[in-house]
Amino acid sequence: MNQEKVIVIDFGGQYNQLVARRVRECNVYCEIYSYKTDIEQIKAMNPKGIILTGGPNSCYEADSPTYTSELFDLGIPVLGLCYGAQLMVHVLGGKVEKAPVREYGKTEVYVDKTSPLFDDVSETTICWMSHFDYISKAADGFRIVAHTADCPVAAAENDAKKLYAIQFHPEVLHTKEGSKMLYNFVRGICGCAGTWRMDSFVENSIKEIREKVGGGKVLCALSGGVDSSVAAVMLAKAIGGQLTCVFVDHGLLRKNEGDEVEEVFGPNGPYELNFIRVNAQERFYSKLAGVTEPERKRKIIGEEFIRVFEEEAKKIGAVDFLVQGTIYPDVVESGLGGESAVIKSHHNVGGLPDCVDFKEIIEPLRNLFKDEVRKAGLELGIPEKLVFRQPFPGPGLGIRIIGEVTAEKVRIVQDADAIYREEIAKAGLDKSIGQYFAALTNMRSVGVMGDERTYDYAVALRAVNTVDFMTAEAAEVPFGVLQRVMSRIINEVRGVNRVMYDLTSKPPGTIEFE
Ligand code: XMP
Repeated sequence: MNQEKVIVIDFGGQYNQLVARRVRECNVYCEIYSYKTDIEQIKAMNPKGIILTGGPNSCYEADSPTYTSELFDLGIPVLGLCYGAQLMVHVLGGKVEKAPVREYGKTEVYVDKTSPLFDDVSETTICWMSHFDYISKAADGFRIVAHTADCPVAAAENDAKKLYAIQFHPEVLHTKEGSKMLYNFVRGICGCAGTWRMDSFVENSIKEIREKVGGGKVLCALSGGVDSSVAAVMLAKAIGGQLTCVFVDHGLLRKNEGDEVEEVFGPNGPYELNFIRVNAQERFYSKLAGVTEPERKRKIIGEEFIRVFEEEAKKIGAVDFLVQGTIYPDVVESGLGGESAVIKSHHNVGGLPDCVDFKEIIEPLRNLFKDEVRKAGLELGIPEKLVFRQPFPGPGLGIRIIGEVTAEKVRIVQDADAIYREEIAKAGLDKSIGQYFAALTNMRSVGVMGDERTYDYAVALRAVNTVDFMTAEAAEVPFGVLQRVMSRIINEVRGVNRVMYDLTSKPPGTIEFE
């Protein structure tokens, strides 16, 4: 891709994907690489700027991650953040040591507005600090351009060499003017023109796909989730009838979801593609009958999914390309990009490529973050309802029904969840809460309804806010909304006489119930 680019060198901090996302919000393309990446490789990418991220280590310890000082002589602007800032100063001869006072949280920072980093930033600004070590002496040639009550060097710069060190985290939203600082770096100091835009990305991708596929045959496993839907539409626009999408309805989707997917991709939808909907509900329910153990349920659903897909693929015969909705965080989290450990392999449907006879994989969203995938979806004209769909696990409602899965329980959780989603949307909360859904507990309890004793199920409502789905906090849904949802579920969903709200954070809980 002939695109101006900023490189983020990852030292293992927790906000590293956020750094890249914020840069892209400035319309500058950016990629994450491990600190182990060779400098020659970095040079070959011809970046307009380099950002060194935070990390959990102390840069003065012998086995801590480091980088060759050559990086600072390339003439390419470098911005160090937290650990990255300390490392820059340490490598260039300044002093970093354990701070007498640990700073953590929102902190008042006093900035020197003559620094190009702080162009248009208030003189006193709130920033997010999180550090044990601090820069006690800036390196030669650097001048101090920000400080706090406890931190003499909150930012330092060597403007002549285009080197900048910031102790706090401009990438997190708690740093009020952080986006402005990153904008100042990439658009001002690095001189990026800001050409990374979704409309041109979509247009170029369609062109590239056309060239790559030629007259070939392409197969796509469509789940109805955001990623596979956006990938499928992009392919449909590029090559139309050469694409076949297989949508397996495993009977564990949200209410009406199967029909909604069919409306968009099926024969009455706007795209000219081959759409195969496999109604495999009964097949999945019978495999799941009597099974209560969560991991076994997940495995059965995953395996059956592959079986069904395989059968369909066999009917289609050999294909040239298989489409996957891989997105950039998947690439980074699987250890191919940055420094993160492999965390989520169990979340992937996995194994699909092995069961199909194909030559090559096409991953049109491989370089995009989730919010960019959504923007691309809107550019492609996909309905908002589909584009802003929440994350939904591959095993679907199967892991939101505790214990055995039956058609009756699926009906209960689908109806309760539909009411919950409707009320959350009515209250205008649907875009502000990270993820929310209803689950069916395996608990039945005594109640009274219209003078009659009942002995029915309890539904649990879950709503969480999360940055990265690795940690999460229960969202504060207003009590009035919860009460309305409770009352509607009990009145409208047969088989439920109790509604609970789950307050558990992750950790110790997970977002899903199984
Ligand atoms: P947990 O429950 O692990 O969920 O806290 C974190 C995020 O991942 C989603 N999730 C899955 N997604 N296949 C998926 O595609 C899975 O097996 C799976 N399990 C959990 C979950 O909805 C949440 O967004």
